[in-house]
Amino acid sequence: MSEAVIHLQGVVKTFEQGRLRALDGVDLDIEAGDFVAIMGPSGCGKSTLLNTIASLDSIDAGELRVAGHDLRAEHHLDNFRAQEIGLVFQLDNLLPSFTARENVETAMFGSSKSRSERKAAAMELLEFVGMGDRQHARPAELSGGERQRVAVARALANRPPILLADEPTGRLDSQTSERVLDLLESLHHEAGTTLVVVTHDPRVAARAHHTVQMLDGKVTSEQFTH
Ligand SMILES: Nc1ncnc2c1ncn2[C@@H]1O[C@H](COP(=O)(O)OP(=O)(O)OP(=O)(O)O)[C@@H](O)[C@H]1O
Ligand SMILES: [Mg+2]
Repeated sequence: MSEAVIHLQGVVKTFEQGRLRALDGVDLDIEAGDFVAIMGPSGCGKSTLLNTIASLDSIDAGELRVAGHDLRAEHHLDNFRAQEIGLVFQLDNLLPSFTARENVETAMFGSSKSRSERKAAAMELLEFVGMGDRQHARPAELSGGERQRVAVARALANRPPILLADEPTGRLDSQTSERVLDLLESLHHEAGTTLVVVTHDPRVAARAHHTVQMLDGKVTSEQFTH
């Protein structure tokens, strides 16, 4: 068995001064190149799990290792995030006053790329997600599926080995969902990206190789299909 790229053991995350245990002892190992679907009812801790893996939230107890970094000890979380993690949230998290291309460029502000290199890289990513001809459009001028494809392009800007997506198809019609899923799947195949997708959608789960069921802040079952 290859080593887990994401390792959680006994992870506890509380809110409300400890009264609310959003994660209540989560054990989970995800291997490099895996395609994982996280499922479970509203409020069971799925987004909290994703946010802790992305180091956007700190944990209260347990072990959390991502891509060789012990996140409880890591002092350079911004660097870690920029190098290892791409994040796709639900719709409408693009910056409204920026064009599609500028939105993708924002992800590269911290990198060593020059302005023209950022522009060229953003253009290439927009072409990859089929949005090259809409580079100058602002989010309000794009459909929900188009916005989500720009969000995927932005998440990929720094070629992250790990892509985390929180209900990426949540508010899309079924045809548009399929396109976004095809895109995620092609990434997984072509770049070997480790894909962790929170979803309520059984069609997304059907494409995954590893399904994780959560309930009340715990992982209750896992299924592997290869
Ligand atoms: N910043 C926060 N402050 C306080 N409580 C929070 C915070 N974030 C999440 N919670 C609580 O933690 C629990 C888990 O929330 P989480 O967002 O992880 O659920 P979820 O599984 O993603 O649900 P959904 O499917 O509705 O998105 C919920 O009870 C929620 O109210
Ligand atoms: Mg959620």
